[in-house]
Amino acid sequence: MIADQTLRMAADRRNLLVGAACSPHLIAREPEYVQTLAREFNCLVAENCMKAAYVQPERGRFDFGPADRLVAFAEENRMRVRGHTLVWHNQMPEWMKTAGFSREEALGVMRDHIRGVLAHFKGRVFCWDVVNEALADGGGWRTKSPWFQMIGPDYVEAAFRFAREADPDVLLFYNDYGMDQPGSKADECYRMVRDFLDKGVPIDGVGFQYHLGVENHLDRSACAANVRRFRELGLAVHFTEMDMGIRKPITDELRSQQASEYANRVGIALDAGVSALVFWGFTDKYSWVPSFTKGEYDEPLLFDSSYRPKPAWKAVFDALAS
Ligand code: XIL
Repeated sequence: MIADQTLRMAADRRNLLVGAACSPHLIAREPEYVQTLAREFNCLVAENCMKAAYVQPERGRFDFGPADRLVAFAEENRMRVRGHTLVWHNQMPEWMKTAGFSREEALGVMRDHIRGVLAHFKGRVFCWDVVNEALADGGGWRTKSPWFQMIGPDYVEAAFRFAREADPDVLLFYNDYGMDQPGSKADECYRMVRDFLDKGVPIDGVGFQYHLGVENHLDRSACAANVRRFRELGLAVHFTEMDMGIRKPITDELRSQQASEYANRVGIALDAGVSALVFWGFTDKYSWVPSFTKGEYDEPLLFDSSYRPKPAWKAVFDALAS
């Protein structure tokens, strides 16, 4: 591969961020992982180590060791860091969700968590997924979230206000899945952020996760229009967690279908003015997809398990370079 054929260079030429989720323990132990990540991406996100369970394992005791190593790696390689995530119903430490907090106490816990994390990373992380996945699949709030149960639906806007208080400069994002295509969840999210803007709740952007299997052929113009309406509110949009599992048995035909679907997604992003394209990992050696789908899907990313670029890599590169 010649040096100017990297995703990173193609993205730099467009003034776009192209990122990947990654883990500090793999950076520490695997040279090919490190080389690929630094060569191909100008942005990274912590796949897990910035989540509440890791950064505040006990009340008031923050542990930023692994996340700091990740941020140091990004700085050494001139990569931007997306922060993921402050308030989410998953990967919360036990103490945060089981202590039976009153509404007021839970608001205090949330504020202290947001303050602690934002103060620590100030100036080194350029945006945060302040709230992740607050909406239910069928529309409406995800009422089973411990945050919803402890505080009520206004926990989402409270989180954004606390985040802005803690850091006036960092960009604040709402992030979710299932709104990648037009539909009730996308509409719900649109209403929510429009309402936030009307009320003066501080929000800068929306993250569309784009975890979708290869069988989901996306209508480029309909999806671009779905995303563009958020841009028209004045918000930034990032695609935050792209991957594309292939249902087994996997064939070369499915691999090339994956490549053209990836190109289609990049086309949606470019059409809609998306400013960051982040993949949920980069090598098929390490992806959450096989375990999340109980072995039904695999090979979701741009590099194979030996770090060779796949047809999907070529398709994404060509779409960015075109
Ligand atoms: C996933 C990680 O990839 C896994 O390693 C972990 O076990 C669970 O979380 N939506 C999100 C991400 O916002 O944080 C999730 O990441 C995938 C779904």
